[in-house]
Amino acid sequence: MKKIKSGVYGLNALMDGGVNEHTTTVVIGSSGAGKTTFATQFLRRGLEEDEDAVFITLDEAPNQIIKEAHLMGWEDVENYVDEGALVFVDAGGKQFSQFIQKELAEFVDDWAGHKARIVIDPLTPVLWSVKEKYEQRELVSFLLRETRKIGTVLCTLEEHGTLGDLSGPESVIPIYLADNVIHLRYASHEHPERRELKIIKCRSSKHSRYWHPYGIMKGAGLYIKRQENNAAETVLESHLDSIVKKRLERAGKGGAPRLSGKALTNLLRTAEILAGEKFSDIKPEELIELILEEYGLNDS
Ligand SMILES: Nc1ncnc2c1ncn2[C@@H]1O[C@H](COP(=O)(O)OP(=O)(O)O)[C@@H](O)[C@H]1O
Ligand SMILES: [Mg+2]
Repeated sequence: MKKIKSGVYGLNALMDGGVNEHTTTVVIGSSGAGKTTFATQFLRRGLEEDEDAVFITLDEAPNQIIKEAHLMGWEDVENYVDEGALVFVDAGGKQFSQFIQKELAEFVDDWAGHKARIVIDPLTPVLWSVKEKYEQRELVSFLLRETRKIGTVLCTLEEHGTLGDLSGPESVIPIYLADNVIHLRYASHEHPERRELKIIKCRSSKHSRYWHPYGIMKGAGLYIKRQENNAAETVLESHLDSIVKKRLERAGKGGAPRLSGKALTNLLRTAEILAGEKFSDIKPEELIELILEEYGLNDS
């Protein structure tokens, strides 16, 4: 199966190289865990590679998501919408079971033959739209099967109740049906620095079975930490830029695969944003290394 890059820095290595194409991934976590950020990152990474992107939003208006992307330093999201490469489907307030059974098939037909990434954020209201468990299972199963036809799907799932308890029906059904499941958890809003992530399931891949600390930063979005106790450090503003430029130069000489123009722009822009940010839980050099790895510019 072909792997695609998740766009979440440091995650691909935990999933045997990335996400299998035409599979479904469920990202589960409580409010504020970073699910929407993860989803946006995932789509944006595909857009860099000239894939199409569909963002089906059920909770927030598209404008709100674009605004939050802007605050992350991801100004290009708006351009993708203007170009038509990124399509938002505002499914808030819809009769989901009807929408899925009637409009979805049409939508899938329209997109036939595309290589897209599709996000459903969050999947939770879809489950709540029907009463019986077997109906929920049927509906989600149909939704995932249909959307998978046109690309690689990522759904987010809200975690309620006891932290880390995934045994409720609204978790069990999607977890059972999805190919990959990623659990994001964090201690509390008071301690946003204590975030951890685990791959619960990743079909046809050797995946990590441990909890991995992760962080969220402007410019980078979610990233997985590899080293503990990274004290805050200040860097010279130009430092991250120069690491990136040197690595690009070296890759060019070594005949390494060339980045797409958009990926290159984003890579340089990310380094620029990060140079102005305060690092609290990861060393700037470690984060930039994770980002370079995403683009195959490893330090080896
Ligand atoms: N511009 C930003 N800079 C740094 N952190 C951010 C930024 N925007 C969001 N975050 C972090 O991401 C978290 C929210 O992420 P979000 O993806 O909306 O979560 P969820 O969808 O799981 O509710 C916030 O708690 C915040 O810590
Ligand atoms: Mg969200």
